Amino acid sequence: MEFYPHIPRLTLAQLPTPLYRLENASAALSRNLYVKRDDMTGVALGGNKVRKLEYLLSDAIRLGCDTVITTGGAQSNHAMLTAACAKKLSLTPYLVLKGRGVCEKKGNLLLSDLMGVDVRLVDTDSFKDVYTAMEELKETLLAAGKKPYLIPVGGSVPLGALGYVRAVLEAFTQMKEMGVMPDRIVFATGSGGMHAGVALGALLYGERFFGKRVHATGIAVSDEPFREIVTEIVLGAAALLGEPVAFTQSDVELYDYTGAGYAIPSEQGSRAIRLMAAREGLFLDPVYTGKAFGGLMDLCEKGVIGKKETVLFIHSGGAGGLFAIEEPRKG
Ligand SMILES: Cc1ncc(COP(=O)(O)O)c(C=O)c1O
Repeated sequence: MEFYPHIPRLTLAQLPTPLYRLENASAALSRNLYVKRDDMTGVALGGNKVRKLEYLLSDAIRLGCDTVITTGGAQSNHAMLTAACAKKLSLTPYLVLKGRGVCEKKGNLLLSDLMGVDVRLVDTDSFKDVYTAMEELKETLLAAGKKPYLIPVGGSVPLGALGYVRAVLEAFTQMKEMGVMPDRIVFATGSGGMHAGVALGALLYGERFFGKRVHATGIAVSDEPFREIVTEIVLGAAALLGEPVAFTQSDVELYDYTGAGYAIPSEQGSRAIRLMAAREGLFLDPVYTGKAFGGLMDLCEKGVIGKKETVLFIHSGGAGGLFAIEEPRKG
């Protein structure tokens, strides 16, 4: 099935990413578990943002932009991947990051340094301050004759979310070929764009591929009004595709496993990281995918994810964080 060829998209990712059964984790959790390896999208250390950037940077180039400004936390995977993709396209990236958190030159900050990226750490914990700094930088660049393109946190706008509508089409095609019928897709919700894309994709393609609704279950890893955010992006993305859908805030399936806070590792997340590493040789990260799989494990224990379910977990990347953010101290 072709995916809306009239919407411009660049090729940045190596697709399709692998999808396979997690044999040992399935046995450990008594569920039928599959993984979509979007940590292997093929730019930098991989991750979900590459799919969004195929749309966003295509838009930047179409508008004649030569520089890209984006933001995130100090260890933002999104920011590092935006820089890497921009570099591949010979655009100049600028990263304006929230300067609280792990700011030593390790993890994603080390990777950005290796790429020679202009990184500006703003001494704040608030995105409001960071967006002000981004606007100031934009004015400076414009005055210098540059044409900057601004990408908000996580690339979580309707155009970026199309990357995950397309990812669902890719995953369902793979599962159909394998003769596997998913009941649910589970993933991390950090700024809401991936959630919106997966929810819309599940809505558009669940019936078409499997004759039923497939749940899109987001695990929140930060404290944001995600029902509002996701709904707005779903409706915006559906409008871009010309596919009107009935979707309201009550359709957003979300479970909160943020714990003590965004980017603060949780015990549940650390258990998930260790289980997947020890049983599957698969590395999750402490900020997103560890908490997401930890949430999945807990929802299995609580019976929210039923015994007979076939679940697709999206490994959305985040390897940089594994080398920068410490797990909680025991005891
Ligand atoms: C590794 C990883 N997983 C999941 C997410 C969450 O995706 P979204 O921001 O679209 O909610 C992010 C966001 O930065 C990420 O870096």
